[in-house]
Amino acid sequence: MDVSTPDDAAGPVAIVTGGAGGMGVAIATVLLGDGFRVALLDRRGAREAAARLRNAGEAAGHRALGIEADITDEGAVRAALEQIDVAWGRIDALVNNAGIEPQHSMENLERDTWQAALDVNLTGPALMIKHCIPLWRRQGGGRVVSIGSRVWLGGGTTASYSASKAGLVGMTRVACRELGAIGVTANVVAPSFARTPLNAEKGDAEFVEAYAERFAAASPLGRLVEPVDVAHAVAFLLSDRARNITGEIVHVAAGTQLAPFIG
Ligand SMILES: NC(=O)c1ccc[n+]([C@@H]2O[C@H](COP(=O)([O-])OP(=O)(O)OC[C@H]3O[C@@H](n4cnc5c(N)ncnc54)[C@H](O)[C@@H]3O)[C@@H](O)[C@H]2O)c1
Repeated sequence: MDVSTPDDAAGPVAIVTGGAGGMGVAIATVLLGDGFRVALLDRRGAREAAARLRNAGEAAGHRALGIEADITDEGAVRAALEQIDVAWGRIDALVNNAGIEPQHSMENLERDTWQAALDVNLTGPALMIKHCIPLWRRQGGGRVVSIGSRVWLGGGTTASYSASKAGLVGMTRVACRELGAIGVTANVVAPSFARTPLNAEKGDAEFVEAYAERFAAASPLGRLVEPVDVAHAVAFLLSDRARNITGEIVHVAAGTQLAPFIG
């Protein structure tokens, strides 16, 4: 794990896991614009992503940190949060965004594939919450937004992915109940298809384009979700305006959460 040297500029502190990915960079950019100091945590590319935000002028001073860590490694999670605490003295918001979507059918499911999806999409977010609790208790509150998926409800894509995202809702609702007493809200933002590297891995360009077209056609609005749409929902749930919203699932799916099976 590596943490670049921040200055001690003011502002609330957010940690965004999967911070080097498509949604992660969009979320970090919007939160920086809202005055957060942002730690981008990713198993790869976190320092480069933070540097790009600083170079693009999105993060004046050193308000964006890059931390290379794997959220499935509890020791690495603990160390990452300690590094942020040492650097900035607080963590106001946890955005559990890192995720993977291994491609498989029920019939060709491998146990390791199943376990990998659960480890990253469900166990990692639970470990992140667990190790933020001492800081939130000390601070008198905090916020969690976990990035789920519209598949949590009706199922979709793959069994390991759908199971992990449904589990994320259950875990979040227990976190909401347990942590409310110390002033923590916990919510899920559930997107549908957006053009990010996660989907680029599903097949060749033609396959991904046909997939995208199915989503746009199924949307009552006739369009796709963009990463910045997800980022805006996250920013709202982290704001004071959402202080009494907890245990909720906010679909950012252009209405496709109401569609029959799309994929
Ligand atoms: N793109 C979509 O269509 C879509 C739709 C619904 C939900 N989501 C969810 O949005 C979130 C972000 O996805 P994205 O589309 O930006 O994908 P992405 O592949 O662009 O980014 C995911 C990031 O997570 C990181 N990551 C993976 N495993 C990790 C680990 N163990 N530790 C630390 N970092 C790890 C990756 O390195 C990557 O940078 C995911 O939770 C995904 O399930 C995406």
